Amino acid sequence: MKEYQLYATMGAGFESVVAKELQSLGYQTQTENGRVFFRGGQKDIVKTNLWLRTADRIKILLKEFTATDFDSLYNQTYDFDWAELLPVDAKFPVQGRSVRSQLHSEPGIQSIVKKAIVNKMSDQYHRRGFLPESGSEYPLDIHIYKNKVRLSLDTSGASLFKRGYRVEHGGAPLKENFAASLLKLTPYDGSHPLIDPLTGSGTLAIEAALIAKNIAPGSWRSFAYQGFDWFNQDLYQEALDEAESEIKEISAPIVASDIDQSILEIAKVNAHNAGVLQDIYFKQVAVKDFATDLENGVIIANPPYGKRLKDKETAEGLYKQMGQVLGKYNSFSQYYLVGDPEFEKYFGHTATKKRKLFNGNLRVDFYQFWANRR
Ligand SMILES: C[S@@+](CC[C@H](N)C(=O)[O-])C[C@H]1O[C@@H](n2cnc3c(N)ncnc32)[C@H](O)[C@@H]1O
Repeated sequence: MKEYQLYATMGAGFESVVAKELQSLGYQTQTENGRVFFRGGQKDIVKTNLWLRTADRIKILLKEFTATDFDSLYNQTYDFDWAELLPVDAKFPVQGRSVRSQLHSEPGIQSIVKKAIVNKMSDQYHRRGFLPESGSEYPLDIHIYKNKVRLSLDTSGASLFKRGYRVEHGGAPLKENFAASLLKLTPYDGSHPLIDPLTGSGTLAIEAALIAKNIAPGSWRSFAYQGFDWFNQDLYQEALDEAESEIKEISAPIVASDIDQSILEIAKVNAHNAGVLQDIYFKQVAVKDFATDLENGVIIANPPYGKRLKDKETAEGLYKQMGQVLGKYNSFSQYYLVGDPEFEKYFGHTATKKRKLFNGNLRVDFYQFWANRR
């Protein structure tokens, strides 16, 4: 079976989290900004797409070369066996990105690469000029960094954060892989309680339940590789059956509360879709009234961030309540993702650690309190 140079992509700051996940799946990894490389065949493409909780996409590195002008980009792209990868009717959108390189026009780069591939395939398939692109999709990716070009094939398709369990509407949800990455930055492994007292549509609690029950996060979606004509399509069902047989019973409670009953209803639908509705205690309660008998677990949440003055005052009041009420439960390690740089002042406790992250374009901090407790 052919072996490929594969890599996972991820949000900035989560390289080590993804590398750790890949290592625990049995791979040797090499990390650079935004990418973790590993080697594997089709089985590994199926396995990593199905099991990685924290990555964005899994790609096959097809070719690497240096190019500083369009001629060289064209020639080196043409000089690849595209007919081996793409059937004559393949649809092959080309996504391009260039950073700190002489070739910097992304639309120009995309169209040169597309032209080189069309011409090569026309030659290889003895067709003149026109390719139908009526078949399944082979998403190609070109990335240029400091004149080094990488041509890749995306095996995931839609980003892996799109698990498929979420109903469309509902507040300001965290992306599923972002929520899973936050959980991986805590000691949570399912063996101790987990509480999200500001649960919104439930992403953190649901991702925690998936971890606790060892449910594969890609169980409900499709992947780009399912359209590749050279891919052994039996591997997907085999991996899914194996994943199904590895699901565990939950062993410690997960509590998800929020002040807003309507958002909790959405959270419940999401949890139902993910097969973990029975594993999460949902309850409507304001932070100021929150109480629990549980001990020695993880509290994790992303409270609202007030951009407008009135919202800011409300948010600051909430941070104070969180400090007063949740701060009492200091047998729990506590983790808060907050956009307000003054969070500690209102929360009233000093963080043991603070990690800079981006939630989309929003610069945020992931604060850890009493993190040594568990
Ligand atoms: C940014 S959202 C959380 C999003 C969530 N992590 C998700 O992925 O869907 C913040 C949540 O805090 C809730 N909230 C605001 N004030 C609250 C309070 N005083 N007590 C409890 N929940 C509150 C809101 O209803 C909202 O659902």
